[in-house]
Amino acid sequence: MNIGVDYYPEHWDESRWPVDAKLMREAGITFVRLAEFSWCKLEPTEGNYDFSWLDRALAVLHKEGIKSVLGTPTATPPAWLHERYPEIYPADAKKYRLGFGTRLQRCLNNEDMRRYSRLITETMAKHYAKNPAVAGWQTDNEFEGNLCYCETCAAKFREWLREKYGSLEALNEAWGTIFWSQEYSGWSQIPLPWEVKCGKSHNPSLQLDYRRFASESTVSFQHEQVEILRANAPEQFITHNMMGLHDSVDYFELGKDLDFVSWDNYPAGFWIQGEPTRSDLAHDVIRGIKGRNFWVMEEQSGITGWETMSRRPVPGQIRLWSWQAIAQGADLVQYFRWRSCLFGTEQYWHGILNHDGVPRRRYREIKGFSEELASLSAELDGSSPENSVAILNSYEQNWAFQIQPQAKGLLWWDQVRRYHDALGRAGVGTDVVPMGADLSKYRLVILPGWYLLRERDAEKLGAYVKAGGVLVVSARTGVKNELNTCRTEPLPGPIADLAGVEVDDYDPLGDATCPVTLADGTSLSASVWADALVPKGAETVASYAGGCFPGEAAVTRNETGKGSCWYFGTAGDAAFYDSLLSRVLEDSSIEPYRGLPPNVAAKYRVRNGATWLFLLNLGSAEASVPVHKGAKHLLGPEAEGDTVRLPAYGVAIYRI
Ligand code: GLA
Ligand code: ZN
Repeated sequence: MNIGVDYYPEHWDESRWPVDAKLMREAGITFVRLAEFSWCKLEPTEGNYDFSWLDRALAVLHKEGIKSVLGTPTATPPAWLHERYPEIYPADAKKYRLGFGTRLQRCLNNEDMRRYSRLITETMAKHYAKNPAVAGWQTDNEFEGNLCYCETCAAKFREWLREKYGSLEALNEAWGTIFWSQEYSGWSQIPLPWEVKCGKSHNPSLQLDYRRFASESTVSFQHEQVEILRANAPEQFITHNMMGLHDSVDYFELGKDLDFVSWDNYPAGFWIQGEPTRSDLAHDVIRGIKGRNFWVMEEQSGITGWETMSRRPVPGQIRLWSWQAIAQGADLVQYFRWRSCLFGTEQYWHGILNHDGVPRRRYREIKGFSEELASLSAELDGSSPENSVAILNSYEQNWAFQIQPQAKGLLWWDQVRRYHDALGRAGVGTDVVPMGADLSKYRLVILPGWYLLRERDAEKLGAYVKAGGVLVVSARTGVKNELNTCRTEPLPGPIADLAGVEVDDYDPLGDATCPVTLADGTSLSASVWADALVPKGAETVASYAGGCFPGEAAVTRNETGKGSCWYFGTAGDAAFYDSLLSRVLEDSSIEPYRGLPPNVAAKYRVRNGATWLFLLNLGSAEASVPVHKGAKHLLGPEAEGDTVRLPAYGVAIYRI
């Protein structure tokens, strides 16, 4: 377990480097990530590489025992490259070509961009392969799907479609291009989903294929770098800094080429203030990408903001976020950035140090955390979260809901979060895994609206239930096939038999609400979507009590083989999920954490039968939390009897 920092030696006078390195060491920092935006300094003019400054910076850091992760610098191609090859600039959906001056101003399908990316990657890899200061590599920086609309992308998209469909007849049939007279008689006629007179309303099948293509473009761009790094620097690891709940690139595919994944966590970043559960979900999503522990490559260490600023992290919050990351499977927490920059777009995206470079309260807080982490490293090394609940995740489903959101509240992360938040409130740890994962280790699997349902996936879920698993299926499952066209079977399509229900009608509620009652008389409020269900073997768990479908079934449960399949035909507020999921957990023989107060998270890491419990108070008020008798106290306030009083933003760790 380590802590690190994102460092930009090129932003500071060289005479400051040893001061920084010493302060880093004194704070317990053992890793830095650097160079990911420094192409113009590594290759100031075409083919003239100058790594001398980076060599010196690495040596200064290494002298203090600090290892480095080098970023391939391709997120910021230099001005000379763009001047020579202006076609590298991507085009937006209105076909407007971007220019120089920020970052990511490159199309990843452009052959010149790719060639120069391979060249700088290879030259760096050869130069640093044997450098003992270099531990590994970060590819590029925060990859996004290559949502570019340039002529190169248009041509490559057509090639991709030809490969996929074989003939125009097959493509026309698959997409239903007879609608609005869109049948293609030549490949060159096929557009990208440009925003033209009718806005974004292109054929949904074309849009989904374009999203797949844009994601694959990024994955293949990274793949080229990975192949070069593996061939030239085989002893160094490769990772990438992902963006949590980002969704334009399929992270499962991007992750396949990496040794482990990393992500950038800004729990109170200026655009996500007031979303306290976002990091909680994002940590689980990221851990699920490869089903193993991860790194936080950038952790918020101060006020964030470019032109405007977020509120400052309250004292104790940086420590809390750091322990939260560890609790959910991080093995390294690296802070962004060492010192707030004096110039450029991110002057107000604060680092550990302010502009004055003087160690102050955030430095002391992080140093304190690093001392705590060091004291528990021997305990926690090699442990990882292991959970008996999984929520299935899919980037393709996510895109399909972006293309057709249908009703407010159905977007992918909205759906996933409602379940994940409720499980969090129950203190039940959750994995977030792909459909391809081994489901046999889970007692409960939750399927958010699996809009595009393949038969083989429905069969896999059926086998899981028959073998004794509990499955929750959500509304909007099985509406379409993988082509993004509607199925003809009664809903929920290929999973209807397993769920033992048929959807007779539906109402896209959005913000509207509809009362629902459970068999024991509990009243709840439904929203977002309402399926009117006809049980075909399933028992009714909840019915609409007025509103759109009075008296008709809203939530059902069907026993099949050794397991059961629940169907949630509607969604709702926190009380709705808390109430229904408590029944689902009971059905799965999963014990919730009884008495867990609001805003307190309970997370577990395990190793060889030993379990560590992390209690994290994410709220701003003191909270009393019941603790298992016999739990061995390791960090934070001691329990009094069987209760621990956690101060605001407090953390307690036990071995249980
Ligand atoms: C991202 C990037 C960093 C930096 C921060 C702050 O996470 O990876 O380079 O820009 O945001 O904006
Ligand atoms: Zn392009």
